Amino acid sequence: MGSSLRRRRIVSRTALPAAVMLLVGGAVAVQSGTPAVAAETTLRAAAAKAGLFFGTASSPNRLYPILSQEFGQLTPENDMKPDRIATSSGGLQNTSGADQLVNHAQSNGMVVRGHTLVWHSQAGALQGASQSTLNTFIGNAINRWGSKIAYWDVVNESLEDNNTGRRRNQWPHTMNRDANGDGDFFDAGDTDVIRDSFIRAKQVVQAGGYSTKLCINDYDVEGLTVKGGGPNRKANALYDIVRTYRQYIDCVGFQSHFNDNPNSIISNDLQANIQRFADLGVEVHLSEVDIDDDLSNNDIGAGQADNYRKVVRACLNVAKCTGITVWGISDSESWRSSERGLLFTGGNGNYQKKAAYYAVLDELNKGRTTTPPTTTPPPTTPPPTTPPPTTPPPTTPPPTTPPPTTPPPTTPPPTNGCTATVSLNSWTGGFVATVRVTAGSAPIQGWNVQLTLPSGAAITNVWSAERTGTSGSVQFSNVNYNGSVAAGQYTEFGFQGTGSATGLTPVCTAS
Ligand code: G3I
Repeated sequence: MGSSLRRRRIVSRTALPAAVMLLVGGAVAVQSGTPAVAAETTLRAAAAKAGLFFGTASSPNRLYPILSQEFGQLTPENDMKPDRIATSSGGLQNTSGADQLVNHAQSNGMVVRGHTLVWHSQAGALQGASQSTLNTFIGNAINRWGSKIAYWDVVNESLEDNNTGRRRNQWPHTMNRDANGDGDFFDAGDTDVIRDSFIRAKQVVQAGGYSTKLCINDYDVEGLTVKGGGPNRKANALYDIVRTYRQYIDCVGFQSHFNDNPNSIISNDLQANIQRFADLGVEVHLSEVDIDDDLSNNDIGAGQADNYRKVVRACLNVAKCTGITVWGISDSESWRSSERGLLFTGGNGNYQKKAAYYAVLDELNKGRTTTPPTTTPPPTTPPPTTPPPTTPPPTTPPPTTPPPTTPPPTTPPPTNGCTATVSLNSWTGGFVATVRVTAGSAPIQGWNVQLTLPSGAAITNVWSAERTGTSGSVQFSNVNYNGSVAAGQYTEFGFQGTGSATGLTPVCTAS
């Protein structure tokens, strides 16, 4: 199911005219002869121009003018949670706060993210409910606002803390059953509250003809690795869920509450992790951003601003990262006020912009920098020039007959193969490699990439490709959704490993 669903574009993508802007060392240079593109002066406008939304979480008592001036998206911070709006039988109650927020967003042209339907916390009267009652609530909540809600967090925080990669053991996950005992809930005969809640949500959206997209949302899933370079098992578990239930899941929220806990840091592989989810075909959002000042030695000036830049840039560099939401407007009004992790100081509608605000605005104004090539195929390496065959010295007198005529030159074969390039993020003892497979001047239907890892390097994790081997000579081939690549276009896969992977020379073969 899912593919026939009518989908409305929520955010208009106004791409910056590529010919107009050149990015030079982070600054924007304008080519002569073309009109200058003025920088936008609000987060909302700059984000819209870059083709994503920039939003915040709010409450009915904080509908100050700045909300719709600076932000193009709104998440009810608490007013759509089950403890606020659900009855014990899955009905709705006390929706006035949520209604007010949705109406405010509608009249100010803001996108709404519904938050949240199935969650072990703030469950209120739904605590301990059966799947059937959860399904009733899912239906009632989605139908109340229909397409006014662009994105719904269907399942929130389903995975355990401490990087175990396991599901939580609280309700509603206590309803899960692993029938064949293989350690997952993905098999026929298993019961999975995530799967069943998404199936129900998808049915309701389709039956109502809504444009609403259905998201799974979690925290500590942002990096491929955690502090110290080990794998982020929670991120990997989320990835497996999205891959397995892709037909029901449209979007993934990385909550992005960044702090100095081992699993909550801003890792260098944030962009690679966003990319691997995007490669599954889902939209990715940074859905609840705040950046603890602990990550900048308590500096809420340039240090925190740099952290914001990194995070916003990682999203901008992935085309399917379509939204960023900060979890509140000002530090003092944040649920985590002691972290001083937001973009404004002040309160009660009287806010002052922090250095982080200007950094975010600047990054958004630079726009996205990695757009796939559209028409011009990448330069192909010229084939090696083979030396002309050497004529053996004559042993007999030369014939008197005329030399054979040289056959006419044959037309060179089309460059219908593929090329592969690797970009590496390395740290002491580990790395993440992103491999770009680019089709030649003809489309390809499948690809295989071979490369040889240096001695001591080993692969621990792969996404968007099938792999043979973990060390030495390894092969990667396409998975079912990324084998077909149009002429001159590319797809990407990635892998993570231990050791060092410098000097990789991938060899691509197309089929
Ligand atoms: O409204 C009552 C008030 O009447 C009462 O006097 C006061 C006494 O403590 O409590 C107020 O309610 C609080 C509510 O926020 C509104 O401020 C609750 O105690 C408090 O528990 C609740 O906290 C919310 C928290 O979720 C609960 O889990 C935060 O505002 C909200 O920002 C936070 O949001 C979560 C996301 O939903 C999921 N991801 C994590 C995120 C927190 O970082």
